[in-house]
Amino acid sequence: MEQLLLQIDQHKTDMNAAKPSNKEELEAFRIKYLGTKGLLKTIMGEMKHVAPENKKEAGQLLNEFKFYTENLYATLAANFEEQTSETMQEMDRSLPGNPWPVGSRHPISIVQNKIISIFHRLGFSVAEGPEIEDDWHNFTALNLPENHPARDMQDTFYISQNPDWLLRTHTSSVQIREMQKGVLPLRIICPGRVYRNETISARAHCFFNQVEGLYIAENVSFADLKQTLYFFVQEMFGDKVKIRFRPSYFPFTEPSAEMDISCLICGGEGCNVCKKTGWVEILGCGMVHPKVLENCNIDSSKYTGFAFGMGVERITMLSYQVKDLRLFSENDVRFLKQFTTAL
Ligand code: PHE
Repeated sequence: MEQLLLQIDQHKTDMNAAKPSNKEELEAFRIKYLGTKGLLKTIMGEMKHVAPENKKEAGQLLNEFKFYTENLYATLAANFEEQTSETMQEMDRSLPGNPWPVGSRHPISIVQNKIISIFHRLGFSVAEGPEIEDDWHNFTALNLPENHPARDMQDTFYISQNPDWLLRTHTSSVQIREMQKGVLPLRIICPGRVYRNETISARAHCFFNQVEGLYIAENVSFADLKQTLYFFVQEMFGDKVKIRFRPSYFPFTEPSAEMDISCLICGGEGCNVCKKTGWVEILGCGMVHPKVLENCNIDSSKYTGFAFGMGVERITMLSYQVKDLRLFSENDVRFLKQFTTAL
């Protein structure tokens, strides 16, 4: 028995020392140890010379040895596979890469980027702020003191842990933050997601995206506002589109207006999209209320400014003739993959 043990140990040492370095050597290893006339078979044959009382123990030892040899061979073969495929890759670097499917931008991002780039050309830079706001930045500073009835114009989501916190209902709160920095003149646009507690339908959602704009300097007038928005509309929708302003009310602007564009679908003839009026509303705007400027420590006798705000979903629906707002947040690939080209 002891001799058998010694023999097995010796074989193990030999096997571990034999490091086949190519396919032929690996095959030679297999034949030498595992082949039909291989070493394993030979020692198995020795069993008949073992004394009957030792047969059981010897059988166990040989089985273990068989298992050991087969395992060793399998490991060598597997390593070898890896090595060969690595060397093969190294050898042919001209093979084409794996074709990854290319995604596309979300239509809201495409339109938002286009809006930003148009205002960029007019010297507006992008400003961003938090989506969870405090009451002061979202309302009070914008001339909507507590209990002001105009707060009901925007159904607000409040944060239950702190009644002073809310999900911003517009990105005008970012304009307040920028005005507070006190660097003038100020020419910014504020893109971002906003939240309102509205019932979800084809025309309304509880979250959507806005781009709001603000220009504050000396001698800014309503004419500047009109010209800026006219430029925007022409760049966005083409030079055939007409604009019109209707008087409106926002607590943070005075005077205030809503701006319509002539309907892109029917060209002003009257259709379902424009509800037979020939006009579609796209944004709210006005001259910044002096109280808002004062709330941000800006001298309203020296500085004036205009502001405007638009919903990106609305502009996207008009640009691509999408009829249901919900499609933008459902993430159905069949819808999303149609928007592969920039506008
Ligand atoms: N903040 C307004 C809204 O969300 C839009 C607006 C911005 C109107 C600036 C006037 C001036 O509805």
